[in-house]
Amino acid sequence: MDKRLLEIVFDNLYNGIYVVDGKGVTIGVNRTFEEMSGFTNEELAGRSLYDLVGKDNYFSGSASILVIERKCPVTATYSTSTNRKLLVKGRPVFDAQGDIEYIINTIWDLTVVQYSQPIDADTARNQLLREDDLVTSSEKMMAVIDLALRVAATDSTILLTGESGVGKSLLAKTVHRSSERKLKPLIQINCAAIPEALIEAELFGYEGGSFTGADSKGKPGLLEVAEGGTVFLDEISELPLHLQSKILGVIQDKEFFRVGGRTMQQVDVRLITATNKNLADLVNDGKFREDLYYRLNVVPISLPPLRERREDIPMLIQHFTDKYNRKYNSYKKFAESLINQMVGMAWKGNIRELENVVERSIVTTAGNYITRDKAQIPGMEKAIPSGVGLKDMLAEREQEILLQAQEQYQTTRRIAAALGISQASAARKLKTINDGIHMDRDEIMHR
Ligand SMILES: Nc1ncnc2c1ncn2[C@@H]1O[C@H](COP(=O)(O)OP(=O)(O)OP(=O)(O)O)[C@@H](O)[C@H]1O
Ligand SMILES: [Mg+2]
Repeated sequence: MDKRLLEIVFDNLYNGIYVVDGKGVTIGVNRTFEEMSGFTNEELAGRSLYDLVGKDNYFSGSASILVIERKCPVTATYSTSTNRKLLVKGRPVFDAQGDIEYIINTIWDLTVVQYSQPIDADTARNQLLREDDLVTSSEKMMAVIDLALRVAATDSTILLTGESGVGKSLLAKTVHRSSERKLKPLIQINCAAIPEALIEAELFGYEGGSFTGADSKGKPGLLEVAEGGTVFLDEISELPLHLQSKILGVIQDKEFFRVGGRTMQQVDVRLITATNKNLADLVNDGKFREDLYYRLNVVPISLPPLRERREDIPMLIQHFTDKYNRKYNSYKKFAESLINQMVGMAWKGNIRELENVVERSIVTTAGNYITRDKAQIPGMEKAIPSGVGLKDMLAEREQEILLQAQEQYQTTRRIAAALGISQASAARKLKTINDGIHMDRDEIMHR
């Protein structure tokens, strides 16, 4: 293909393309990306993503930065300043030395509806929605996301399974946002959180005077509120048996009775359900209706626990560090050796636990450099991490001792005397450490 044709192809792809060099500097974007993002190639070319990502800037995050940090392909979803949800797949291209030469990002617009009005970039830029970015670099999760997005386009009922905290609720949101129903409501109901006596009225609504304490005019249930949209039934296993059959009616016939009602209500909703239990076992125990189970299980999507995709951990730490640095207006950073140790932890609470650990460390750690001793991560205090190596552990320990000595003794002469090393050696070691910290800090500040 000649160059001109290649350019035509580049601009006419349905996907947005964003090309970056190995240092994170934008080389160019195609026309589709311009349309998706509201930014022009002219505006972006030559600019570093480290400058473009951040508070009042262009992007809420960058898959390319994650690719540079992790040297592997990355999938992430981001919200643009124009309030669109984008799925980004970044893939590194390596040179002969094995360094990243380019990163080719392919971008899908999950907000399929085209905005016909021109976007006011300034107001839009301030409305960045960042909380529900979904990041991953693991093949397993990418396959899960691919499947979820393919199913999102249909009206199939989805069953999300996986341990607590693996991201089921987040994926349910992503599915809704990328479905044709995205402009209609997404109603989330946690079946375990609503008392059994109330759940029927909550879900299906009630007619006036149907029970004591009920509003005399009656009230529509959440299913009706969701009309046209998606209902996310979380912890579906906790739904009482008699309501399970009512839900089955909604799936099969798209109709139900309100509590105390005599006329059928019609609804058009898509159901997404989630559970961290094994529904098949519950069916065997007679605690879950078999027919409903088969109806829900049409498209089962199982999210792997974090310990089965440890390659995501560094990236998630980075993601949550950015999130909470923004929230608390700080510039903290996890020591590389601490990140390596965290990769080896059990993470029984999965991503929610990881997120909590990161937030707590950011809030409670003094100074900008979060090390193992400062962070005091539960479950890590005593255990010798596997896979970190004695050398790294000793290096980290040495850093900590030197930084502590620096605080205590102030001058290199006194530090050297206290630690029994030469003043030149104390000065050299401290310079390396302090340069490292400042560099980290500058880098973060530029984001
Ligand atoms: N891939 C991901 N990237 C970024 N954040 C994530 C990812 N997966 C999960 N999270 C975050 O982790 C937290 C827990 O996820 P979520 O609530 O979706 O888990 P869950 O599986 O629904 O848990 P539960 O079974 O307890 O309801 C949320 O704050 C979510 O935003
Ligand atoms: Mg959940």
